[in-house]
Amino acid sequence: MAKQPPGTNQTVLITGASSGIGEALAACFARDGFNLVLVARSADKLKTLANHLAAEHGVKAWVAPTDLSKVGNAALLAAKMKKDKHAIDVLVNCAGVLEHGQFVKMRPGRHQELIDLNVSALTEMLAHFVPPMVSRGSGRVLNVASIAAFQPIPSLATYAATKAYVLSLTESLAEELKGTGVTISALCPGITATNMVSMATESSGLRLPGILVGEVGKVAEEGYRACMKGEVIKVPGIINLASILAGRATPKWLLRKVTGTFGRATVKG
Ligand SMILES: NC(=O)c1ccc[n+]([C@@H]2O[C@H](COP(=O)([O-])OP(=O)(O)OC[C@H]3O[C@@H](n4cnc5c(N)ncnc54)[C@H](OP(=O)(O)O)[C@@H]3O)[C@@H](O)[C@H]2O)c1
Repeated sequence: MAKQPPGTNQTVLITGASSGIGEALAACFARDGFNLVLVARSADKLKTLANHLAAEHGVKAWVAPTDLSKVGNAALLAAKMKKDKHAIDVLVNCAGVLEHGQFVKMRPGRHQELIDLNVSALTEMLAHFVPPMVSRGSGRVLNVASIAAFQPIPSLATYAATKAYVLSLTESLAEELKGTGVTISALCPGITATNMVSMATESSGLRLPGILVGEVGKVAEEGYRACMKGEVIKVPGIINLASILAGRATPKWLLRKVTGTFGRATVKG
């Protein structure tokens, strides 16, 4: 008898699925037979992707257009999943926003917008979707953090701090969830070719050497595999991994000096 794909009769809910890494992750899960619930604000993009992946891989794909930055919307999403009888076997928290530039020059409310989505919404999603997994005795979670989680990054100060939160929360929960049948992983990509990076480089005029920019499909594939294996931290790409290891071996004052020099070079005036 032919072996069934790993996602047979399982459903993954992916936030930030309308573009970039989230969209590429949706393709990985669909290829391996998972049914999909796709979440982001752009309903049209989600519907197009859902139709495409359902037709290509023979899976079911639903869309749930939601602005997760609004307090309470993650709870409404969880209630809708319950009402529609979608048990979520895998949760992927990928929705995120970045703002590049000097902290003091940003619109004050912008910092809160980053925190609302990257920190609060992600935490709310975990709070609503992980307990049912624990009750069922199985489940997987993939939180998309960043290599920015490992050190302060002047010019991305608030963004890097939100990603440090995601990494810390994931590591704590990985230990808390031991023995429950639920695993949790943090995907920590380096610079990856998506809208997020093109918007940041356009606004700063920064030119990134191609060798530093990861391919979105490869990053998603590594994240998908880490999630399926229950690996707690995944840093895709050898250069990113080397930079993290070098950072760990560097005294904090020196690391700040290096990231400060780089950060100042990337912001205008
Ligand atoms: N690209 C990189 O270099 C890089 C590196 C490390 C980590 N990451 C992380 O990877 C994740 C995905 O980013 P990406 O690079 O793929 O960028 P992207 O293409 O801009 O994707 C961001 C996703 O988040 C969704 N989103 C934004 N605001 C939202 C909101 N209020 N409610 C619900 N969904 C919202 C967007 O959809 P809508 O606009 O349709 O809502 C989109 O689907 C982020 O968490 C990012 O921090 C990216």
